Amino acid sequence: NFALPGLIDCHVHFREPGLTHKEDFLTGSMAAAKGGITTILDMPNTIPPTTTLAALEEKRRLAAKSIVNYGFNFGASPGNISDIKKAKNIAAVKLYMDYTTGDMKIDDLEFVADVFKASKITIIHAEDISIQNAIEIIIKNKIKNKLHVAHVSSEKELQYAKQNKIKKQVTVEVTPHHLFMNDKDLQHLGSFAEMKPRLKTENDQKALWLGIQNGIVDAIASDHAPHLKEEKEQANYPFGVPGVETMLPLLLDAFNKNRISLPTIQKLCCENPAGIFKIKNKGIIKEGYDADLVVADLDKRQAVRNEDLLTKCKWSPFEGKILKGWPVMTIVNGNVVFNDGKIFDIKAKEVQYAT
Ligand code: NCD
Ligand code: ZN
Ligand code: ZN
Repeated sequence: NFALPGLIDCHVHFREPGLTHKEDFLTGSMAAAKGGITTILDMPNTIPPTTTLAALEEKRRLAAKSIVNYGFNFGASPGNISDIKKAKNIAAVKLYMDYTTGDMKIDDLEFVADVFKASKITIIHAEDISIQNAIEIIIKNKIKNKLHVAHVSSEKELQYAKQNKIKKQVTVEVTPHHLFMNDKDLQHLGSFAEMKPRLKTENDQKALWLGIQNGIVDAIASDHAPHLKEEKEQANYPFGVPGVETMLPLLLDAFNKNRISLPTIQKLCCENPAGIFKIKNKGIIKEGYDADLVVADLDKRQAVRNEDLLTKCKWSPFEGKILKGWPVMTIVNGNVVFNDGKIFDIKAKEVQYAT
């Protein structure tokens, strides 16, 4: 068995408030704990969206039932710059430059610039040329704040995000679904493999892996975006796939296939997310750091099975895949919350940030 710092998943949608038929902070956090994740950062595309101080406080109250540590991303919405400046203890501001679940797309590029100026770090959902547009806004306005590009999915997006002029200011996140699937998987999975950004070609998938090897990719995050089976079966299905329970098993399986090292998993899933969002006392195993740990059995072989999943949506695009390497015990703030297949409902804490 092998111990890692607990994973810090900087991109999840736990759907509370307003969409709790898909997930809530308890079920989402139980699924995360089972997947070896000890801290999550939640996204603002809930109902109501986390774009006001009142909505942030309400989400804070609801998240208290989480059994993994948690933090919040505040949403950018027209006219809310003063709330962005006043929001307390947030990881980042999330800004949507393209359409996705939640309808929070911003079209006004002046406002985009204002958000970049107002927040020390902005996470963008931007696809393809929108990433280039975001970077041009930063260069043109001589903005010094940081930009984190969520779920980079293609070779081109990676190039836009990591161009020389701005390299040190921009961090790049990739998801397990873009690493372990490509557009060929749409043939058998249909809408169950539809997310934003969509799965790309095998060549793009290779570029993401190359980015990991070259150190261009800064973080891996699940973009856990659960929707019910019934919703996915509709003609007008929503985009997104669940991921907190399968991210670490997929990466450990890749380790067993010599595709990624354990130190790289630790860097991209623990240390770097803590560093990018300045989360205090997390991401490495060291005296004085929080006792957030995951113990993995690197030889354990098991299939991903829908019936085993703790996410409310109860399905995974990786169902049926046999993976070698599974988390077997998860410790949050010194408490065992997952062991030997069982979950222990011990409440966790909101994370703090260095300023
Ligand atoms: C996410 C969701 O469902 O909230 N969907 C997705 O396809 N990734 C939103 C997002 O991250 O874009
Ligand atoms: Zn997104
Ligand atoms: Zn997302």
